[in-house]
Amino acid sequence: MNKKVLAIYYTQSGQMGEIIDTFTAPLIAAGATVEKAQIRLVNNYDFPWTGTRFFSVMPSCVLGIPEPIHPLNLKDTKYDLVILGYQPWFLSPSIPSNSLLQSDEFKAIIKGTPVITISAGRNMWINSYVRVRNMIKDAGAKLVGNVALLDKHPNPISFVTIFYWMLTGKKERYLNIFPKPGVSEQDIAGTEVYGETVAKHLENNELDTLQDDLIAQKAVEINYKLMFIEARAKPIFAVWAKIIAGRKNRTPWLSAFKYYLFVALFLGAPVLLTLDAIFLKPFSGKRIKRNKLKYLQVIN
Ligand SMILES: Cc1cc2nc3c(=O)[nH]c(=O)nc-3n(C[C@H](O)[C@H](O)[C@H](O)COP(=O)(O)O)c2cc1C
Repeated sequence: MNKKVLAIYYTQSGQMGEIIDTFTAPLIAAGATVEKAQIRLVNNYDFPWTGTRFFSVMPSCVLGIPEPIHPLNLKDTKYDLVILGYQPWFLSPSIPSNSLLQSDEFKAIIKGTPVITISAGRNMWINSYVRVRNMIKDAGAKLVGNVALLDKHPNPISFVTIFYWMLTGKKERYLNIFPKPGVSEQDIAGTEVYGETVAKHLENNELDTLQDDLIAQKAVEINYKLMFIEARAKPIFAVWAKIIAGRKNRTPWLSAFKYYLFVALFLGAPVLLTLDAIFLKPFSGKRIKRNKLKYLQVIN
């Protein structure tokens, strides 16, 4: 097919690079020209992280403060399709992705162009997706597909393993007891199937119905409990971010946020989920269904 595709992404560990390669392989096989580009921050974040640096980016993530990025130096100015690979950081688009979405250069590229988003986080991606979706719409582009990849292990387990990964740089089994962190090799390989679906829709000029097929293929799924926790955490993160951003000495506040996060996840979330299961969920079937649909779809 005679189509030009831009696949642009950020990655620290290389995980998103692997996903983009697998996801776009069927497009290349179908004859599309796929240009791959990475977002390059002027001051990149070192990987692996230290604990202090990891938490220090929280206010900028949540408040959506962009950082300078290098010019994209792309071969073209317009594409038939743009694929954006990003990751959530603190329930928000990662700073590099947010910086790209706020850059005039990228906004001009996606204006009037179909866009597919693909995220690869731990497991809380909904809030960042809504923000990315809004930014894409504000730039005058059209979101036609979304794939959300995540670590499918239980929430407390992936919380432990992601820290091991982020603080050592090793996507390996912590202590040989915990499972591997991040998106599984099987799920990464599975993105090829989604790529085939995209290739079919792109070739037939049917991108408007792409997301229905991606949903049917489970390229994006909503886990009720995670959706519930994320919805409660979102406004609380916003309050923390505003408080911390306003402090001259952020260190004690970031440390307090870190402890809050541990307590909220290991104590607060199970208590809230239990209360919800007894008092709210049984009577909220319609609302839950509506919310799930809102996040599965690409229109807002
Ligand atoms: C600072 C930071 C915050 C993160 N916060 C979240 C989060 O809120 N939700 C989530 O699902 N994953 C979160 N992650 C995991 C990332 O989304 C992503 O899976 C991981 O960083 C690997 O991405 P990479 O391709 O850049 O290596 C966070 C990672 C970092 C570094």
